Amino acid sequence: MSAKQVKAPRGTYDVLGDDAAARAVLEQKARAVLQGAGYERIETPCFEATELFQRGVGESTDIVQKEMYTFEDGSARSLTLRPEGTAPICRAYVEHGMHKLAQPVKLWYLSSFFRYERAQRGRFRQFWQVGAEALGSEDPAVDAESIVLLATLLEELGAAGVRLRLSSLGGAAGRERYRARLQEHLRANEAALASEVRERIELNPLRAFDSTHEGTVAVMREAPLLLDELDAGDREHFAQVRALLDVAGVRYEVDPTLVRGLDYYTRTVFEFTSDALGAQSGVGGGGRYDGLVAQLGGPATPGMGWAAGVERLLLAAAVPPPGAAQIDLYVGFQIGAEGLGADLRGRAFELLCAARSAGLGALMEMAGRSTKGQLRQADRLGARYVAIVGERETVLRDMQDGAQQPLAAEQVIHAALRGLRELS
Ligand code: HAM
Repeated sequence: MSAKQVKAPRGTYDVLGDDAAARAVLEQKARAVLQGAGYERIETPCFEATELFQRGVGESTDIVQKEMYTFEDGSARSLTLRPEGTAPICRAYVEHGMHKLAQPVKLWYLSSFFRYERAQRGRFRQFWQVGAEALGSEDPAVDAESIVLLATLLEELGAAGVRLRLSSLGGAAGRERYRARLQEHLRANEAALASEVRERIELNPLRAFDSTHEGTVAVMREAPLLLDELDAGDREHFAQVRALLDVAGVRYEVDPTLVRGLDYYTRTVFEFTSDALGAQSGVGGGGRYDGLVAQLGGPATPGMGWAAGVERLLLAAAVPPPGAAQIDLYVGFQIGAEGLGADLRGRAFELLCAARSAGLGALMEMAGRSTKGQLRQADRLGARYVAIVGERETVLRDMQDGAQQPLAAEQVIHAALRGLRELS
């Protein structure tokens, strides 16, 4: 009886083939865009103390309420697989005393994250994000630059049908006042609301703007808008962010109903969507989080950043994979008389190592093919030269014109290098 096959968990997938190649292109482009703007790479651990996300992301969010992979380790500590990257980066900022560095400190990441969500196209339980965070300055130019960088990355990737929605949530005090007013409006119209919206009036009234339920949508059309209630400082900050985006030529729509699924946002919030994505249209988003570092026990520090889903970027952009790696030399050997193969294999392996040291892209026969089979395999791989190591000599075959010459082993590499140089 054969053993039952073990499969990858639901909502996860393997990165391989063209997908792996496209991700390499994406990473290269993200690095060029972000490092060019002074962002440095950071990687935080895959798991953190559960408290970090409870305090950072917020108890009322879907993420903390039902999407975290939380477990106890051997010492009964509660740990959680990171559902997002901003809270961990704020933790690292404090832990490494980065407030003593020149501000803003700019960090970027490309990491995997974990949320127990209903898996579907563009929505996974383990997914990747490329993200950028700038800590230590509340200058509106930081907001504008951050947004422009994601716009640039989307453009570099050739993402289709992209829209940018933008809003401001103002400061914490104004938000509390607004929350109370919104709750009042929702309670006054309770009968018309969807049951899940009704249940969240106390915990998270803002999420009512996300509802597609007919009655709720009608109630929300009449709801007070936070954007109309910003205090003078926040209004001015938002005006400057918009003016700088205009300077950069980045088009946006101000959408006062834009709600983000995390509690830490203050002032600027934004989201890029793409028509190419269908239901899960959010390709990336973020905003300002001026209270988060202090909330996690650090010094009062403003912050601004975003994250974009790698799977969604690739769906929106259809990044063409780069061509396969170039093979300059395929090293084969005569497989014949008993025992001879092993000895020739050693000599072929020596040639393989020497070819790579000399800078050639080289592969060796490792599947016991006949000489004919080796030539066929080299042809399939698009190798320029094939060396067949024999008992007395090594034959170098130019796969372009079919010319063959017997050579001493040490001459093989020189001949291949010479041939490749003539070609370029
Ligand atoms: P978020 O909106 O929760 O924000 O996630 C950012 C992006 O990650 C989304 O726009 C989406 O592309 C992708 N994403 C989220 N969940 C999934 C999933 N289950 N499967 C596939 N892709 C997904 C944050 O995470 C914030 N930390 C962003 C931020 C950084 N704000 C300030 N700084």
